Amino acid sequence: MADEYILQIDDVTKEFPGVRALDHVSFKVKKGEIHSLCGENGAGKSTLMSVVSGVYPKDSYGGKVFYKGHETNYHSVKDSEKEGLAIIHQELALSPYLSIYENIFLGHMKTRLGIINWNFYIRESKKYLDRVGLHENPATVVSKTGVGKQQLVEIARALSKQVDLLILDEPTSSLNDDESDHLLNLILEFKNQGMTSVIISHKLGEVLKVADTVTILRDGKSIRSFDVKADHLTEEMIIKDMVGRDLTHRFPTRKSKPGETIMEVKNWSVYHPDYHSIKVVDNASFYVRRGEIVAFCGPMGAGRTELMMSLYGLSYGSRSEGELFLKGKKATPRSAKEALETGMGYVSEDRKTLGLILIQSIKNNISSSSLQKLSRFGIVLNQREIEEAEKYRKNLRIKTPTINQLTRNLSGGNQQKVVLSRTLLADPDIFIVDEPTRGIDVGAKTEIYDILNELVAQGKSVIMVSSELPEALGMADRLYVMNEGKIKGELTHDEATQEKIMQIALLGK
Ligand SMILES: Nc1ncnc2c1ncn2[C@@H]1O[C@H](COP(=O)(O)OP(=O)(O)OP(=O)(O)O)[C@@H](O)[C@H]1O
Ligand SMILES: [Mg+2]
Repeated sequence: MADEYILQIDDVTKEFPGVRALDHVSFKVKKGEIHSLCGENGAGKSTLMSVVSGVYPKDSYGGKVFYKGHETNYHSVKDSEKEGLAIIHQELALSPYLSIYENIFLGHMKTRLGIINWNFYIRESKKYLDRVGLHENPATVVSKTGVGKQQLVEIARALSKQVDLLILDEPTSSLNDDESDHLLNLILEFKNQGMTSVIISHKLGEVLKVADTVTILRDGKSIRSFDVKADHLTEEMIIKDMVGRDLTHRFPTRKSKPGETIMEVKNWSVYHPDYHSIKVVDNASFYVRRGEIVAFCGPMGAGRTELMMSLYGLSYGSRSEGELFLKGKKATPRSAKEALETGMGYVSEDRKTLGLILIQSIKNNISSSSLQKLSRFGIVLNQREIEEAEKYRKNLRIKTPTINQLTRNLSGGNQQKVVLSRTLLADPDIFIVDEPTRGIDVGAKTEIYDILNELVAQGKSVIMVSSELPEALGMADRLYVMNEGKIKGELTHDEATQEKIMQIALLGK
């Protein structure tokens, strides 16, 4: 292999029971470039990177991988790390209860006479935190920092081990615009220093901004690699190869006919779970009508998720103040279960904590909020459960050979579809969807928008928390703008623009 390439993937095939995740994949990554990998949910992107980095050992896949000119023969990630290859997975892998510096050096601290020199590592960690632009005390416990910072800690950890090839699996999916920009600029800076990166992302705008080459996978096959500049690559060109057809409308149009007010929230305040005197949400009042989509916008940390989770049976916060009315009656759900019984449903942004039981089947996860409905005389009707799960597999195109598959074996985006299916089956009147399309590919996004539109057409209501402004603008009948725990203003669909939302968030008008 010519020196020009740092990584060459040659005819790689990987199978799981009933699934061919990778089907004769071949492409090359040039030394020093930023190479982006695009494809629909379940196309095989994460699997391929696990093959490259030794998560899947050599004898578990077909074909060859060449790295720095030699064929690899890794048995674990440790082997690839030794050769300067680092992978940051889709689901962050830090130890939440350890400090930042312990996470950076975990597993590769040296001891002297059996003793670790902690002060040395605290000092050392500062070097790497500086390089990634994270100005945080290294002794801070990781779980106390946001996802954006945790992402940077992961990169600092990679740098501490000397990286030549950095693989990032959807690094910006949970970041806000500023955090994403920071991270992407960092990758560009590393490129100037000679590092090679492979980035997996569903955000095609950012792919075009940073990538030199884009490779597209579809159904486990490598479709082609584009040279971003020479091929004048556009989002449409990427999408066409990803889904194998043209996607015409990204936001399906809908005639909205909102009815009476179905939910009203008055002077709602929420207090921090640990620091009981800190208000995370401050005196929020809003309403939602039957048959409308209401979006909540604002910067990350504005308190949107906290507001919704606290309304949803106090699933967040040490306590709350204020009133919630559902269909004109005062409601005081004390748990998620009670909230569901009063007609609210919550689709979480975080599929791991509030979301799914990963070691259970897809079927069990989909039915778990609706067992009563699927039972007769207290016994779950197996056939009904299977029918419902099959229906959602088909409608949402959950990519799996069987609904008995364990949920953890699904690709990230397909897990997200299971979370949505579960709430759809529970059939609440008010759907609270928090970042409903995070990690979802462009094609499947449109399908999810179609589903939300259909719900409101049936007279249901949707509350949407979204950090993607185009999505909020494209979908919502009305938008509330939050910042610093407060609702700063309200806009109708026709009034709302990106600029106005920003202006309200920052200036309150
Ligand atoms: N451990 C496993 N057992 C069984 N099937 C698996 C396993 N890991 C992945 N798969 C399957 O392999 C296929 C490719 O999954 P992969 O996670 O690589 O997709 P992806 O392109 O990363 O998708 P996403 O954009 O949703 O993250 C999917 O059909 C997935 O269900
Ligand atoms: Mg993936």
